[in-house]
Amino acid sequence: MPRRAGATVCWGMVAAMGVATGTWAAQPPEVMRVEDSRRLSLDHDWRFMRGDVKDAATLEIDDSEWRHLDLPHDWAIEGPFDKSISPHCGALPYFGVAWYRKHFRVPSTAHGRHLAIEFDGAMSNAEVWLNGEKLGGRPYGYIGFAFDLDPTLRVGLGEDNVIAVRLAPKEGSSRWYPGAGIYRNVWLNITRDIHVARWGTYVRTPQVTPQEATVLVRTEVRSRRSVADTVTIDNVVVDPDGTEAGHATITVDIPAGETRTVEQSIVVRAPALWWPAQPTLHRLVTVIRDGDVEWDATTTPFGIRSVSYDKDHGFLLNGQPVKLKGVCLHHDLGPLGTAVNRRAIERELQILQGMGVNAIRTSHNPPAPEVLDLCDRLGIMVLDEAFDMWRKPKVPNGHAVFFDEWGETDLRDMLRRDRNHPSVVMWSIGNEVLEQADPDGWKIARDLTQICHEEDPTRPVTAGYNQMDNAIKNGLVAEVDIPGFNYKVRHYERVLHDHPDWWILGTETASCVSSRGVYHLPIEKYESHPSHQITSYDIIAPRWAYAPDPELDAQERIPRLLGELMWTGFDYLGEPTPYFDWRKPMSESEADWPARSSYFGAVDLAGFPKDRYYLYQSAWTTEPMVHILPHWNWQGHEGQKIPVMVYTNAADAELFLNGRSLGRKVRGVDLVTIPVGHSVNDEGTFKTKFRLEWEVSYEPGTLRAVAHDKDGHEVASAQVDTAGRPARVTLQPDREHIAADGDDLAFVTVRIEDAAGHLCPMADNLVRFEVVGAGDIAAVGNGNPATFEPFQAKERHAFNGKALLIVRSRRAYVGAIRIAALSEGLQGSRAVVMTGNPSGQEVQEPAP
Ligand code: GAL
Repeated sequence: MPRRAGATVCWGMVAAMGVATGTWAAQPPEVMRVEDSRRLSLDHDWRFMRGDVKDAATLEIDDSEWRHLDLPHDWAIEGPFDKSISPHCGALPYFGVAWYRKHFRVPSTAHGRHLAIEFDGAMSNAEVWLNGEKLGGRPYGYIGFAFDLDPTLRVGLGEDNVIAVRLAPKEGSSRWYPGAGIYRNVWLNITRDIHVARWGTYVRTPQVTPQEATVLVRTEVRSRRSVADTVTIDNVVVDPDGTEAGHATITVDIPAGETRTVEQSIVVRAPALWWPAQPTLHRLVTVIRDGDVEWDATTTPFGIRSVSYDKDHGFLLNGQPVKLKGVCLHHDLGPLGTAVNRRAIERELQILQGMGVNAIRTSHNPPAPEVLDLCDRLGIMVLDEAFDMWRKPKVPNGHAVFFDEWGETDLRDMLRRDRNHPSVVMWSIGNEVLEQADPDGWKIARDLTQICHEEDPTRPVTAGYNQMDNAIKNGLVAEVDIPGFNYKVRHYERVLHDHPDWWILGTETASCVSSRGVYHLPIEKYESHPSHQITSYDIIAPRWAYAPDPELDAQERIPRLLGELMWTGFDYLGEPTPYFDWRKPMSESEADWPARSSYFGAVDLAGFPKDRYYLYQSAWTTEPMVHILPHWNWQGHEGQKIPVMVYTNAADAELFLNGRSLGRKVRGVDLVTIPVGHSVNDEGTFKTKFRLEWEVSYEPGTLRAVAHDKDGHEVASAQVDTAGRPARVTLQPDREHIAADGDDLAFVTVRIEDAAGHLCPMADNLVRFEVVGAGDIAAVGNGNPATFEPFQAKERHAFNGKALLIVRSRRAYVGAIRIAALSEGLQGSRAVVMTGNPSGQEVQEPAP
């Protein structure tokens, strides 16, 4: 039985599987213990209502019948899928009006404290009220915003306060699935009369050598007092061991009600630098004092590292050339929708690191703060992008509608929020903006670049230009520090030849499409196969795009090419290209349903790697690996030639069928010709060294690839086996212990196997789940881009042998989450995930 940590009351096990029942209605408004904290989560116990509600902003309205939930929340992922909604936005209900309300109380000990509410982002057109008084609004769903609560806050335990939020995301506001709701975290920021302003700490490391680094700290101190004060500001650099590595103290006079900004320089000797391979983080501890009174204390994680670039060495991190081996990522988390979840983001990034990724592009918007925290910690470089459009709209209700009013503020806020993150190495002011075609498009590029330089002179600015010649001719390229081009592998050398002083970046590359585990024979260039699935031989791409190989090749060959951000790391909801071609009216695309999410990912929507993952891994990693495709279940094709591809980073590979050698092929010698289209060259084909290929006459059994180093030593092997009939379901949780914080997740891989344990590569059995104890089902998925099965359900069909169950811990319950999987005609399976207290300590399951 699960135990509620720190409480004598045992809430008891909820015997029903699935969604928690809880005791919401009886909960009194949350009391915010503001006196000892600088920041508190405001995520719990919100009330939610779809549709517009009269007087919903007022204190008095009775919301007891509204739905109770915790944030972050994405209402659209709850579905249902709907053919009247654009498949480019996931065919999910991402527009309309909804209200959220949060009741809370503040003890009278809060007197002398100032409270502000901070939203990391709400989708979208947010308007916020406290106790019926309007605080303000923010249209852009991807940017954070904050409001002071002081003027209308009611203090005292007998006083209710109500925050009311109205969201009104519009149809036609996005080119992908944007999600809907307060989908990021909400905070209560608590300060005293003199404090560090919001984003008031800016840490830079302008000089970095292994011997010494200069840490430059700018602190903005705000006074709300009616008298002038003199305060000291202590800034201490703390190294990863908790030891002081340097400090600076300054005394400042602050007139009543004003803000003062000071700069201090701190020298750190023999600093541990931030590298992708060793992402060392330091902390800056800022304390503001007046004599014995401590007015404020904040902690800012940062990294000691430098970023530079030049045409001889390309992109330099800490003075060392580094190529960006990166991916573009949209913000949704697959079956979980857009509701921010730290573990889901961490898992996504870790899976990508396994592919060799050292960089991401937050296409095409500012990310959740958690993304950057995790990239800092995991060692992933970030190209932080502001916009998908400027003044000229790509969709009728996108950011272009409020670009003139909000564009500068949105950009400055992104820069101020994110500029302390060592992971952020570049700013992007836009993606494929339509102003590339305008003779005066450069003006906006200049303004936005200047804003970036003003707020942060330490990082270069780029943009993703797809109209290369227009963007050059119209001067937009000259306005950014690093010209970024989308899908221009064919033209890199020409442009670099014409512009000998330039260095360039593949801001968006490849856009290959495939479905995990799907292989069509013969291999040919299907534009949109009637099965709604796309072969995973990694050769299909839309007309503007190409298979991964030419870009990988160009990146290796061309020194002034700083790297690539491949489209995309993970599949995402919406944009099911090549289905629902943008150029065709929806009415002519009926046959394309139920395609509703992308095929672009190297990893599918459930987080299962596709073959392409291993193609990049073979180019981007050095730990010996070999991967083989397709599966080996070709019943009915006996004797037929099946193309077998092997991806390896070793010197060569030998292929065996049922123990017989089919020959050894050498990487870089035995080239494979693949179709790539005219976006690469006139021939439309490319001889790639990134693949080895055999034509294998099919017979059931085992196909095995053995890879060797250049001395002929075996360094890696892989095999695929002909699977028998589905016999059982297995469950593989990614972690055995998770935190009992109501947020942590276990990702459970569900496999359909034959009696010998081989994955059944085409199995689509329906699997039912039961989850009881200290957790609940958060979502289910399987990586199939063409299905209307709901993500919030207790069952899921396997897709090509696999499905995913995501289980969330319950807040403050410790104990076991017991999981069972059942499927008709198959042997079922059980798994247990233990939850512990959030500090990470393991907790014993109490005796029954
Ligand atoms: C690009 C665009 C991306 C995505 C991609 C698909 O042109 O910037 O957002 O649409 O195409 O290939």
